[in-house]
Amino acid sequence: MKIAVASDHAGYELKNSLLEYLTAEGIEYEDFGTYSLESTDYPEYGKLIGQKVASGQFSLGLLFCGTGVGISIAANKIKGVRAVVCSDTFTARASRQHNNSNILALGGRVVGVDLAKDIFDAWFNVQFEGGRHQRRIDLIEN
Ligand code: RB5
Repeated sequence: MKIAVASDHAGYELKNSLLEYLTAEGIEYEDFGTYSLESTDYPEYGKLIGQKVASGQFSLGLLFCGTGVGISIAANKIKGVRAVVCSDTFTARASRQHNNSNILALGGRVVGVDLAKDIFDAWFNVQFEGGRHQRRIDLIEN
């Protein structure tokens, strides 16, 4: 499973730290930018990763901006995307188990590197539980 990754400038440093962690853990990803601290527009990156995930080209996405909010709002405009902003591990885990979230958004100005790694692990290492939760997701989709 390969993860599609992107950030704006405000998420750039946290993205780099998380990508080092993913590399160390042997988790495959592709980084679609941004590649510097120069100011950029987060909607472009949210849309891009949303499209990569909604098309099935990637099964999961990881996004970073200052808060995680703007970039997740942008990604959620793409049908089939369920992007969540998380600052705690409980929400991250439940968002996959119950909501089948397919994009995790983190705030570079909100969470530190170690917490971001824990949030990622909580999100990545569980599965969607299906059942009654699938019915609710179908209601959202339809
Ligand atoms: C950029 O300054 C900042 O607004 C952006 O990264 C993000 O936090 C928006 O939600």
